[in-house]
Amino acid sequence: MSEQTTRTGQTTHTDVVEAGEQMAEVALTVNGVPRRVEVPVRRTLSDALRVDLGLTGTHVGCEHGVCGACTVLLDGEPVRSCLMLAATADGHEVTTVEGLTEEDGSLGPVQQAFVDCHGLQCGFCTPGFLTTITAFIEDNPDPTEEEAREAIGGNLCRCTGYHNIVASVLRAAELARGENGEAEATDQADGAAADDEAQAAGKNGKDVPREAADGERQVAR
Ligand code: FES
Ligand code: FES
Repeated sequence: MSEQTTRTGQTTHTDVVEAGEQMAEVALTVNGVPRRVEVPVRRTLSDALRVDLGLTGTHVGCEHGVCGACTVLLDGEPVRSCLMLAATADGHEVTTVEGLTEEDGSLGPVQQAFVDCHGLQCGFCTPGFLTTITAFIEDNPDPTEEEAREAIGGNLCRCTGYHNIVASVLRAAELARGENGEAEATDQADGAAADDEAQAAGKNGKDVPREAADGERQVAR
């Protein structure tokens, strides 16, 4: 990708800027760091994050607001970054999946929960789930399974059948509440047992009959 330095000293990518296009200067805070970019006024926030700021953790799936893969937090609230212009984010705080780690670089509670509960397979949908769930457990630190399932209703996953993602939401809430340590080992054991149970009951995606899997996805939406 070719680059040029703009009159404001910012780097932009010439292969996605058309000659004569109207540009906008955008100042925003991304993952706690003040950033300035000059972008075409038509550029979406998702493209600005990925192309102009190099934060490719935000994934773009449908590009029309359906799949949730592009979800980032704008001032703490989940938004579809594919539906929002970068210029609209001027003056706001954006948190992407890269910003969900702890200060020491270790995994944040939602990320760790996905590891603990095997909440991903291909991982394409995962950044959107992680940001969505981060905002959700901030608002609801002790959700029920039903609330957890409802919270991820706007995020689509083609791989997991949602069982382990729902478990990850509950686990993330536990970790965020500081219920780790001994509870973690117990919960992991419980999680494994639950997975075994789910496998036996045909609820874990891979072995589930198509009708049942479709039904589960319907519920999760
Ligand atoms: S890429 Fe934004 S909702 Fe699908
Ligand atoms: S893990 Fe593959 S789409 Fe969700």
